[in-house]
Amino acid sequence: MSEMILVLDFGGQYNQLIARRVRENNVYCEVHTGLSIEKIRALNPSGIILTGGPQSVYADNAFLPPIEIFSLNVPILGICYGAQAMAKILGGEVKPAQTGEYGKTDVELIGTSKLFANVEKKSVTWMSHTDRIFSVPESFSVTASTKNCPVAAMENPAKNFYAVQFHPEVVHTVEGKKIFANFVDICGCKRNWRMSSFVAESVKNLREKIGGGKVLCALSGGVDSSVAAVLLSKAVGKNLTCVFVDHGLLRKNEAAEVEAAFKNYDLNFVKIDAGERFLSKLRGVTEPERKRKIIGEEFIRVFEDVAKKIGAVDYLVQGTIYPDVIESGLGKSAVIKSHHNVGGLPDFVDFKEIVEPLRLLFKDEVRQAGRELGLPENLVSRQPFPGPGLGIRIIGEVTADKVAIVQDADAIYREEIFKAGVDKNLSQYFAALTNMRSVGVMGDGRTYDFAIALRAVQTDDFMTAEAAQLPWDVLSRAANRIVNEVKGVNRVLYDCTTKPPATIEFE
Ligand code: XMP
Repeated sequence: MSEMILVLDFGGQYNQLIARRVRENNVYCEVHTGLSIEKIRALNPSGIILTGGPQSVYADNAFLPPIEIFSLNVPILGICYGAQAMAKILGGEVKPAQTGEYGKTDVELIGTSKLFANVEKKSVTWMSHTDRIFSVPESFSVTASTKNCPVAAMENPAKNFYAVQFHPEVVHTVEGKKIFANFVDICGCKRNWRMSSFVAESVKNLREKIGGGKVLCALSGGVDSSVAAVLLSKAVGKNLTCVFVDHGLLRKNEAAEVEAAFKNYDLNFVKIDAGERFLSKLRGVTEPERKRKIIGEEFIRVFEDVAKKIGAVDYLVQGTIYPDVIESGLGKSAVIKSHHNVGGLPDFVDFKEIVEPLRLLFKDEVRQAGRELGLPENLVSRQPFPGPGLGIRIIGEVTADKVAIVQDADAIYREEIFKAGVDKNLSQYFAALTNMRSVGVMGDGRTYDFAIALRAVQTDDFMTAEAAQLPWDVLSRAANRIVNEVKGVNRVLYDCTTKPPATIEFE
């Protein structure tokens, strides 16, 4: 393994972002929780970052890093809780602040610091703390302060120990990326890690782990499961079976595209055409949650039938990526929509272990890995698509005719958006079939046809979203083509609602 920066995780919300900021500097980075000093030594990191976390370092049960890390002779950066942990362990004092700081906060640098090389003297940072460092350990100096936090940063440059109370990993810290770049330099990293190294390393590790074992993967055609499958195929070839269930609710030509993409790889690709089966289960069903449940359950039944034929496997592959890890870790409150992901199918398959080769990556990193693995661009840059597919983009009962209508309208809309070059600014965009008919006039005759709704949203996290302000000419061209080319549609509406109160999908 080439050089690596180790992130010791103390439970903060932004911890995986830290790894990403390091990887953006072409340095490999891993996030670990609760490592012993022996394990840390074995990883032989070039530097260590202590993350934020919800605890107080002076609490009885405070979770602190092993004290020996400060004798490893590697640079250490403490962030928020990590900064306070460094202060506490090395003899400084941490107490509740009279005034906590939350959100954007002005910071001013003091003196010169290698960590802040080329960083503006005054800038905005992101703060989120109730405790603060009151006195710094011996041989440390204060290198930044804010109005309510006199020790916003401290360091002992002789030992390469650095600490910041603010969160440089969050985009709101304007100079955050420079701070990570500087820390990477302090660690002496050569910046020679590339996504190709991740791919090569993962293939090697998967091969070692799996050996001659049998592996099963449920392919949805989405980016994550496709990249996971190809990674596995590189590692174990024909010991991998990928099952692709076409529920008939995919976008136009999508099933054929997925099949074509996987033809080029060494694996057992099993495609199940289950469209009829799904449609018959959905007949007469109009309630959104019921539709979602039926599609989710039927998916499992189809997969189960195939799995039975394959028999026992050693490993089940899941395309879990880091944001899924965060979401499942936080626990859910009210169920707004019961999400169905084709990855989550382990209960009925006889297997020993789950492999999740992408669990440390963010979406754009997964796309990058997919490109490295030679997956076609149309698959790699695919926008998110819900497990229940077009089933939840057809309001009311799902029929074969309606699926064809929404597929055709959606294909036209996507094509127009792509041709206009506006797709890069959109997080998700699609057509949905409203269950509403209205009167129109075509030729000299009256029509009574469906209305298509077009949606395009911009979002960072899909929890909240803005309706995109699409150029009018793109919308009108798409609308014009849809009413002319798609039989059964005589009206096109644009959805300009934000989430909340609407959701991104219609059901
Ligand atoms: P909503 O409609 O809840 O969607 O605002 C947020 C994001 O989640 C996607 N979505 C799903 N993804 N299984 C999935 O894998 C599902 O059942 C599902 N439902 C919604 C949706 O496309 C959007 O990106």
